[in-house]
Amino acid sequence: MSRVGTIIAIIAVSVSLVILLLSYAGAKVDVDIPQDNNTRTGYPVWHPPFPGHYGQDQYATIFASIILMGIGGYYAYKWTLFDTKTDEELVTYLVDNAFNKTTSIYFDQLLAAYSLITGLTGIAYLAFDLGKMWSTVGVFHNGLEVVILVALHQGGRIVSNKFLAWMILYFVSTLGFSIFLDWPYDTVWFKMQGLCQDFALAITFTRIYFDTRNGYGDETHQRLSDVERPREHNHVKEYTFGSVSRFIPNFVLFLVLASYTHILGNVYATILYTKYYSYLVLSFTYCITFPIYCYFVYLDTHSIATPPSQKYIILPDTSKPKVVLVTLSVLFLSFLCTRLSLYYQSDD
Ligand SMILES: *[C@@H]1O[C@H](CO)[C@@H](O)[C@H](O)[C@H]1NC(C)=O
Repeated sequence: MSRVGTIIAIIAVSVSLVILLLSYAGAKVDVDIPQDNNTRTGYPVWHPPFPGHYGQDQYATIFASIILMGIGGYYAYKWTLFDTKTDEELVTYLVDNAFNKTTSIYFDQLLAAYSLITGLTGIAYLAFDLGKMWSTVGVFHNGLEVVILVALHQGGRIVSNKFLAWMILYFVSTLGFSIFLDWPYDTVWFKMQGLCQDFALAITFTRIYFDTRNGYGDETHQRLSDVERPREHNHVKEYTFGSVSRFIPNFVLFLVLASYTHILGNVYATILYTKYYSYLVLSFTYCITFPIYCYFVYLDTHSIATPPSQKYIILPDTSKPKVVLVTLSVLFLSFLCTRLSLYYQSDD
């Protein structure tokens, strides 16, 4: 998109956002959603009672997702621990707009941590159900998403020393509102900030996919090639992991698929807030999303480029207008989901 195109898009999204926010004023906001209590802790939870629905299915789904996220995260981390000197061909580089290269190992490890930490939020769910208590662990799932987004924004790893201060501010403010707001505003707040991260990840991975697909093998990236590398590389080299496959830009599609599955579950559960099955669907998406993320790490660490090229993934343009456009779009989408939820609830 050209600079002018981006600015037109910013104006269009801003106007839509203002109209959307104005529509809240006309909405029937006295929707009275009853709040359930957890049978074990006795604390109020972040959903209405679901009479006749307290079965094993929800717990079984959560439990299955914990197992998958635990095993997936463990292996994903293990796969990143190869020797980058002897198995140099296995290293993928994340390339930013200034052609700076950063190995994707750090990004892959963040995906592994994302899987493991989300597994912990599943354990917290089994202990407390969704609610204020759960949010103290749940915030780390969203926090990891913020870390991934900032790492990709900064070329593949966090370089700013201010980042820690911002992260602390993020945790304290997210938890502060989720603890001190009353039902249902505590859950609305927590959900909306989480939706923002989910949409931002989906948009970012989509942009990475298109940039990588369009730019891979491009003239401009030839300078990334390692001229020292032997051109003849047809003999089968033994890597730490045994056999490897050829790297293709389509591997990035797995990141897109994983983030879309997650956002679909979350949007569905936000709009159909009072329906038991929406929770079940959301929980089940974790059994799909995180194994896919871990599979991406597997592909990324078990593939080589066609010699003499190096493997690389092209990061999207991080100029101010693009960041503003993505931020506004994410806010718009998050408010839109909540608005649709409100509409659905008052119509019910
Ligand atoms: C939850 O507990 C509160 C306080 O004990 C009670 O007023 C409320 O009716 C309970 N909610 C349900 C759905 O049982």
